[in-house]
Amino acid sequence: MFLSWLALLFSILGAVTAVDICSDYPKPDPCLPGGEWDPVLNSCSGYDGRSCFQCYSGQFCKTREDTLTCQLSSTGGNPLVIAQFWLLNSTQEPCSTTLAHYRPAYQNPPGVPLPPLEDAIRKLHAISQNVDTSGRQLIGGFGATMMLHATVAALSEMILKNCTSNCPPVVDVMAQPPYYDNYPYIVGIVQTARWNTSADPTSPYTIEILTYPNNPNGVRRNPLVKNPNHVIRDMVYYWPMYTDIDTTISEPIMIFSSSKHEGLAGTRFGWGLYQDSVLAQNVAQVVNVLTLGLSVDVQLRVLASIQAIIGH
Ligand SMILES: *[C@@H]1O[C@H](CO)[C@@H](O)[C@H](O)[C@H]1NC(C)=O
Ligand SMILES: *[C@@H]1O[C@H](CO)[C@@H](O)[C@H](O)[C@H]1NC(C)=O
Ligand SMILES: *[C@@H]1O[C@H](CO)[C@@H](O)[C@H](O)[C@H]1NC(C)=O
Repeated sequence: MFLSWLALLFSILGAVTAVDICSDYPKPDPCLPGGEWDPVLNSCSGYDGRSCFQCYSGQFCKTREDTLTCQLSSTGGNPLVIAQFWLLNSTQEPCSTTLAHYRPAYQNPPGVPLPPLEDAIRKLHAISQNVDTSGRQLIGGFGATMMLHATVAALSEMILKNCTSNCPPVVDVMAQPPYYDNYPYIVGIVQTARWNTSADPTSPYTIEILTYPNNPNGVRRNPLVKNPNHVIRDMVYYWPMYTDIDTTISEPIMIFSSSKHEGLAGTRFGWGLYQDSVLAQNVAQVVNVLTLGLSVDVQLRVLASIQAIIGH
């Protein structure tokens, strides 16, 4: 199984070059002035997503109309003043160079990967037959480390909010030894949780992080916490080159990373699959607070590498 999968991987890698998501870039740009065509989202994005901000008009929104009453948003903003330089000045062919792949705006909605990347990740799971992603929301972040942190933060807060009487001040988070030595530190920076390896697994206020299969011994353990909604499965090694994939898994909370799958640890990308859509939204909010949106450059890199592996 292991050898044949590797052989397949390398024959695909030899035959396929990454798809250029910009090949359909329309010229002239239908979104000018004031906006720009977004080849990833297939829609216009611009100074306010569609057109100029209030009180500005004309070519590149340069004309200011002082006669109008303008409203200024005090809670948001996007640094787009320099955007046209990158979009229009690289030989006037916005998508023909690496620079033009640069996307100036923060990504919205937070935590939700670019549509082509999300499609590629779901396809990757389907081909690998390791996980059934249907009915699961996909949230991205800087590596499995950030996904674990965001998930512990969001889940522990939701568990405490659910509590009506005799509520503990924090939720206990445990893992069965031997466990990854970074877990206590990841949990340690969450206000609503504390690391406790002697936690009571039968308590409704205990979360278990289950590395599945375990690192470093590869053992597939059953969780001690019986409520599957309180078990965070760190499944970064559940891929065919690391373990026999004999079961397509569909648990409520599952975490993966490009580090282990594509071997691109330095790219820093991880994702979580969540059955509970409220939990998924809350995880995305934590990621958003920490990042102001996913790195578009990182996502384009991960997209290209997954495309090189799955072939489309
Ligand atoms: C565009 O870039 C070139 C260098 O590649 C530079 O010489 C030129 O001044 C730039 N034009 C504008 C309008 O920024
Ligand atoms: C909160 O309580 C509801 C109702 O019992 C339950 O369905 C849900 O799973 C609980 N959420 C968490 C995070 O435990
Ligand atoms: C860990 O949990 C156990 C069981 O609830 C509790 O007795 C113990 O005090 C906790 N330890 C710490 C360090 O919080």
